[in-house]
Amino acid sequence: MEHRFFTSYPPPPGSVIEPADVTLGPLAGRTVAIVGYGTMGRAHALNLRRSGVAVVVGARDGSPAGDRARAAGFAVHPVAAAVAAADIVMLMLPDTAMADAWRADVAPHLKPGAAIGFAHGFAIAFDQVVPEAGRPCFLAAPKAQGDLLVELHAADGGVPGLLAVTDTSPPATWDLAAAYCLAVGCLAGGGFVTTFRQECVSDQFGEQAVLCGGVIELLKASYDVLVEAGYGAENAYFECVHELKLITDLLHRHGVAGLRGRISGTAAYGGLTRGPRIIDDGTRARLREVLAEIEDGRFARELLASHQRTAELAADEAAGPLARAAGPMLARLHPGEGK
Ligand SMILES: NC(=O)c1ccc[n+]([C@@H]2O[C@H](COP(=O)([O-])OP(=O)(O)OC[C@H]3O[C@@H](n4cnc5c(N)ncnc54)[C@H](OP(=O)(O)O)[C@@H]3O)[C@@H](O)[C@H]2O)c1
Repeated sequence: MEHRFFTSYPPPPGSVIEPADVTLGPLAGRTVAIVGYGTMGRAHALNLRRSGVAVVVGARDGSPAGDRARAAGFAVHPVAAAVAAADIVMLMLPDTAMADAWRADVAPHLKPGAAIGFAHGFAIAFDQVVPEAGRPCFLAAPKAQGDLLVELHAADGGVPGLLAVTDTSPPATWDLAAAYCLAVGCLAGGGFVTTFRQECVSDQFGEQAVLCGGVIELLKASYDVLVEAGYGAENAYFECVHELKLITDLLHRHGVAGLRGRISGTAAYGGLTRGPRIIDDGTRARLREVLAEIEDGRFARELLASHQRTAELAADEAAGPLARAAGPMLARLHPGEGK
């Protein structure tokens, strides 16, 4: 089948949808229900409205998030009613709440032909939601946290996005997914075609190995080592935590090779010779274990069974040396920004 975005259909992962090829046409006259007005749901709702798309919000009874949506001027309904009113239903719930919400409040109330969409691949990749064949189902995963997505869209920018469509969706779902990504501001630099599984596994691996796991543990361990050796807490905070942003900004703009040319010769030599002693073959073996746990569903099962532990684990971390040191430093360096 011919398609204006792709030379072959279905498009191979790695195809890129160029924003200039996309219009909001597939969204014209259609209503989007945002189910779950949390960090990501709020961002989608605000950006869709700014793009001229009709939005309703679905929230459970007594939902504080629903109150925030109302205060922002959205029509807020019980989830089932929002679903029944919509042509496109975006499931913006915690990943661990998708299966119950789908069974009770979403699937029985969907209009025939209504599309469903997600911002992360977990629900489809790990069978939390199993749409019937022929139901349009897409992934529009902005490569940014929700608040940043709003900020950049308001500045007439955006972020890149990952797009996927289930195998049993009608082909026109690609046009809808691309239009949706344009409306929420996640086609800047391109919309990268992927699959629900690829997005889910690589996203969770990146979170665990690097962004929210490996890096944070490295910061904590490095801070502890300096302080235990008698160096000042402020020195340790600046060198091991504060400067991370400066380095990641360079990395973002110039890549690894460009970064090396922009730091001091001492930093470049020290990093190139000592870094591989920190991240060695043992670390690589553990990274492969973490990846295997995501791929074979062990992490998914553990998350669904144990996610209630998150608050307790976060409280323990907040009582640790680095988190305690961060409080006064942040109050001084970023006054007024709150927690
Ligand atoms: N956060 C991000 O920046 C980000 C980035 C990339 C992808 N995503 C993806 O976006 C999706 C949403 O994530 P999120 O972080 O935005 O979620 P979230 O903030 O944790 O939760 C969304 C909202 O869902 C409501 N909710 C919770 N349980 C519910 C239930 N059982 N039924 C109905 N409503 C319920 C909550 O509101 P009430 O408690 O007030 O009802 C909450 O505000 C996920 O698939 C996630 O992986 C998020």
